[in-house]
Amino acid sequence: MKFAIVPTHVFALVFLLAGAAMAQPQTRNLMPVPQSVDWQQGKFRLTQDLTVGINGLPHDRLYAYTGRVVQRLSGRTGFLHWPVQIGHQHTQGSLQITVEQPGTPALYADESYTISVSENQISLRAPNDLGAMRGLETLLQLLEADEEGYYFPAVAIQDAPRFPWRGLMLDVSRHFLPIEVIYRNLDAMAAMKLNVFHWHLSDDHGWRVELRSVPELHRLASDGQYYTQEQIRSVIAYAEARGIWVMPECDVPGHGSAILTALPQLGSKDMEYDLARNAGIFDPTLDPTNEEVYVVLEKIIAEMVALFPSPYFHIGGDENEGHHWDENPNIQEFMQVNGIEDNHELQGYFNARLHKILAKYDREMMGWEEILAEGIPESTVIHSWRGANEGLPAKQSLVQAAKAGYPVVLSNGYYIDLMYPTQDHYLVDPMPEKGRLTAEEEKLILGGEATMWSELVTPLTVDSRIWPRTAAIAERFWSDASITDLDDMQRRLKVVSYQLEELGLQHLHAREVILRNLTRNGDVATLRELVEVCEPLQGYTRNPLGVYYTVHSPYTLFADACMADARLARDFNAAAKDFVATGKGAEAVISQLERWATLHERLSPTLAGNPVLLEVKEQSKALSDAARMALIAMDVISGQKALPADYVDQAEHVLNHAAEQEGGRTQLANLPGLRTLVEAAVGENLD
Ligand code: ACM
Repeated sequence: MKFAIVPTHVFALVFLLAGAAMAQPQTRNLMPVPQSVDWQQGKFRLTQDLTVGINGLPHDRLYAYTGRVVQRLSGRTGFLHWPVQIGHQHTQGSLQITVEQPGTPALYADESYTISVSENQISLRAPNDLGAMRGLETLLQLLEADEEGYYFPAVAIQDAPRFPWRGLMLDVSRHFLPIEVIYRNLDAMAAMKLNVFHWHLSDDHGWRVELRSVPELHRLASDGQYYTQEQIRSVIAYAEARGIWVMPECDVPGHGSAILTALPQLGSKDMEYDLARNAGIFDPTLDPTNEEVYVVLEKIIAEMVALFPSPYFHIGGDENEGHHWDENPNIQEFMQVNGIEDNHELQGYFNARLHKILAKYDREMMGWEEILAEGIPESTVIHSWRGANEGLPAKQSLVQAAKAGYPVVLSNGYYIDLMYPTQDHYLVDPMPEKGRLTAEEEKLILGGEATMWSELVTPLTVDSRIWPRTAAIAERFWSDASITDLDDMQRRLKVVSYQLEELGLQHLHAREVILRNLTRNGDVATLRELVEVCEPLQGYTRNPLGVYYTVHSPYTLFADACMADARLARDFNAAAKDFVATGKGAEAVISQLERWATLHERLSPTLAGNPVLLEVKEQSKALSDAARMALIAMDVISGQKALPADYVDQAEHVLNHAAEQEGGRTQLANLPGLRTLVEAAVGENLD
């Protein structure tokens, strides 16, 4: 039985009436929410006597995975001398894991599992070890504590993913990410039950794979920052040990600056090529009429498929504007002779050639949605990515591809680099609205991928741009479509976020590193108060024209300490709205406003002593001014004060001035709440 999410207050009432001691939301701390959860009476007490039995025929990876899970439990419980026995066919274990056969990370692999927790026994069953690993992550999320110690609540869970393709793409071209970063993100992916790591290994800013057959690529086009083949094999093994498969991307024929820096003879224009340093769409493009291009691409593919067992190979194919094709008379002549009408058709010709090479090596082709064209074989996977930012309706290419019979993966809506709040991603479902596709076409929607483009991130900050928001996206890919309660998601996300730290994720830690650097290890606490209510500018506005920053800019500044979801600010906005609607919560609102009203003064010595922070000085002052206006509003609303004579004009000016601030390429995220209070006091909307 699938449960429906019921608002927390309804549960509270039900439990109160039933006389139950506990009024917990059905979802507790589970993320992604399993398909079916049946809470029962009783608790399995976790003690140092726990024994673990692994039964059946699992892949060996399950022993190591279980060992790491026990270690995480140990880290949470503080059990110092835990002689946990993880034994094969250990039928006496109090935690019994039973799997029928070894699994292989792959599309459509069975990842289902069941968990049954009773007072004496935990039983985790799965058809293979992939499901068992997913179940172990759920088990970790079940751990609770009371005054008597740690326990797992009695429960029966049945679970399986909604979509078979649940990915995270990491762009390691624009900023190189060393393998330690990849490892820890694979750990986080496994914790969130993601199963596809899409490795974007080439782009205008660098080629990142050591290739022995075309060594010019990593030697001349990587600034010395590339993965050795040994490292790549290690990453693939690390991923497989966590039930994740790794798909490489070699982005062609556009995004070609790096390839052409190494191999200019393959370009469509006779020019000197160089690695890109800014953000943007660049013209360097492989020449599809040059046979040597296919010879080199075959060498690249042959060596890459030997490294990557993934049955899918991503060829990129995005954002090829074809300017260099237009300028090249030989290419124009080729098109005329071959009856190729436009650049899109020419790219179709190029893709068909590439498809043939991939087929020779037994690989399916995947590409960004621009590869969708007449004649592309139906097994090609279309990666849908464009939408509102490109002036197109959401999911247009997704629907178009599925209607044409192609399997599709959705990334539009999951561009986590753009720093939109979690809920914007969470509410995007890979499945189009009912009625847009037939049942048969719906089967072609494989799932989705969060995409982490790396123009504005470094190894220090990248985790904080991926997590915790990608955990909410992972829930969208795994859980039932009905799981959409935003407050409940935020509540659980807070738990998941700190739990990810036990895997070494740096998303929370990095902020502190940056704050210490900005203040020269000074008054971090006060600066944190400002950071907590500021968000980096969203979409493509943080980096105007792609040139405000280069790949060499410091990403250790104020904006880099700010999160996409300034929770304190957003929670305040909700509290202000709630106060205006119900009159409740005045004390908390006032207390917060008082802190902000004095923040600028408290922060001034830090701002004055650290020139790197001058970029947020006016924003800090604007926040304190706006908070003082809101404090007056609170007095007016409660009837303690009459509206001061010039209040409306002043408040309007102060709020608008605060809204105009883009200090350090960030903006104040608590202004909607401040405005709500001011408008409630004056009884009108202010522009
Ligand atoms: C893309 O964002 N250019 C796929």
